[in-house]
Amino acid sequence: MRRPLPSIASRAINEVYSRLDYRRLGTIYCYEGGDAFWRTKRGTCVRLGSRIAGILRKKLARGGRSLYVGAGVAEIPALMMETTALARPVEPYNLRRNEVVLLNQALRTIPIRFRARDAATAKGRFDHLWIVSVLNDPERFPHLSLLSYGRADPVSFKPARFERERAIVQSMVDRCMRKLALPGLVTTTTEEVVWIADWCHRNQTPYLVERRQYPTALVGDPICFINIGWRGRSKKRKR
Ligand SMILES: C[S@@+](CC[C@H](N)C(=O)[O-])C[C@H]1O[C@@H](n2cnc3c(N)ncnc32)[C@H](O)[C@@H]1O
Repeated sequence: MRRPLPSIASRAINEVYSRLDYRRLGTIYCYEGGDAFWRTKRGTCVRLGSRIAGILRKKLARGGRSLYVGAGVAEIPALMMETTALARPVEPYNLRRNEVVLLNQALRTIPIRFRARDAATAKGRFDHLWIVSVLNDPERFPHLSLLSYGRADPVSFKPARFERERAIVQSMVDRCMRKLALPGLVTTTTEEVVWIADWCHRNQTPYLVERRQYPTALVGDPICFINIGWRGRSKKRKR
């Protein structure tokens, strides 16, 4: 059964969302129509984000810490749940400097600081890695994204560009997954699972993708959880 977030965490989440500068966020998230976008998405971010935060709360233990790669507005409930309900340190990274400024302004009373740096520069180990809608970002990886979503046009598709993008993604996954303490948890989208699975195969690391999927507010792909370095039944059978 899902445990709801404590009311103190829910109140704090709503407070942070009420402090966000949606006009400026609109120009970051949308080419046009940013105001209308946030009018419809803001409530969904709180609702679906809090639902995922409630599920994560059961999966994560006190004493660990989380690395968030490419976190933004949608990740606020999970970040705040970890900090307020589990007292876990979190490190959210996002390369969009102007978004990081706005997020940190809204979080000024909470001990969470977004960093406008490559998440792979984070120091130390984490037992949870959150990487949602980063490895298939159509703005950064247009060719890879076309292929992933089955929209590649065989006439104009450029395999050499795709190969370059794939090498960048694999290197990013390598550098971030190296920071995961095993056994650990990865939260990602169903579209990005292949990259984490690819890393596990290349590094002979067992993994288990949980079947349940959860909708998110801003990206179309649902989120799922992957247990990494967890041997499941085979470990129990060991004498
Ligand atoms: C499509 S957005 C997804 C934002 C958010 N996770 C969501 O689902 O709404 C991708 C984000 O990943 C960030 N990003 C890409 N590579 C990164 C890296 N190496 N370190 C930190 N952030 C990164 C980008 O700056 C951008 O903010």
